[in-house]
Amino acid sequence: MLLKDKIAIVTGGGSGIGEASSFRFAREGAAVIVADMRLRKAEAVAAQINEEGGHATAIEVDVSISESVESLVERTVSQYGRLDVMFNNAGTLRPGTVVDLQVDDWDLVMGVNVRSVFLGGKFAIPAMLRSGGGSIINTASISGLHGDGGAVVYAASKAAVINLTRAMSTDHASDGIRVNAICPGTIETPPVMRMMEDPTALEVNLRAHAIGRLGRPDEIASAALWLASDESSFVSGEAIVVDGGLRAQSPLGRLADPRPDHLR
Ligand SMILES: NC(=O)c1ccc[n+]([C@@H]2O[C@H](COP(=O)([O-])OP(=O)(O)OC[C@H]3O[C@@H](n4cnc5c(N)ncnc54)[C@H](O)[C@@H]3O)[C@@H](O)[C@H]2O)c1
Repeated sequence: MLLKDKIAIVTGGGSGIGEASSFRFAREGAAVIVADMRLRKAEAVAAQINEEGGHATAIEVDVSISESVESLVERTVSQYGRLDVMFNNAGTLRPGTVVDLQVDDWDLVMGVNVRSVFLGGKFAIPAMLRSGGGSIINTASISGLHGDGGAVVYAASKAAVINLTRAMSTDHASDGIRVNAICPGTIETPPVMRMMEDPTALEVNLRAHAIGRLGRPDEIASAALWLASDESSFVSGEAIVVDGGLRAQSPLGRLADPRPDHLR
């Protein structure tokens, strides 16, 4: 029970990585606020957690809107009395080059991916200070570490999340608040599985991950759980890469061919 009696907010909790993390946090003893702009998805996750004997509440939020995030934190503290873990996980992607993308795309992606982390910190940190400390986790991406093309605003937004994580951690580590990011490789979540219906995209992604498969949402939830818990008590300001060996290899991959059958 790594999160016994902790109160945790998970944004984007209605699907994918956020859904897996909501279940994982609840099974480790946390009361979980499953926050999502799609309320029905969040309610379904919360209901299943409660059926399993855990504790969860669904709250509708738009993480890019200040009043919405403020109200999410206020409702959490008024219901549970404290806040220990804030997982700023909701995110979005618009594909395109700087030429293709519209200014509205820039504003949307930066709002959902970066302003959300700013707002999550802005409202969660004062609540955590009153609770004696806490852990903030932000979902970045390996796209925030490289200049891959085809989704340039997304790449910029995730790089911003990584450095915002570092800067926030510097300001608040001495208050007992740790701030860390996770950089996932390609994970089998609903939007990604739609992209992987294209066999070429699937092949490229399988080759890119040295481990020979895509990641599972629960494998990111494991990293989030560790960062949320006291097991990571001396880790602050880090961007933890969970990418099945993607970053370890050069674009050449292996020179010999000891690949699993499905990659030959
Ligand atoms: N799946 C991957 O391969 C991958 C890789 C790297 C990073 N990520 C990041 O992981 C995070 C979760 O993505 P996922 O793959 O689980 O996607 P997902 O679509 O399964 O889940 C994202 C959830 O966020 C919610 N959401 C979107 N905009 C929101 C907003 N403005 N306010 C509140 N909720 C909102 C959606 O309703 C959805 O339920 C994102 O930040 C994404 O960028 C995913």
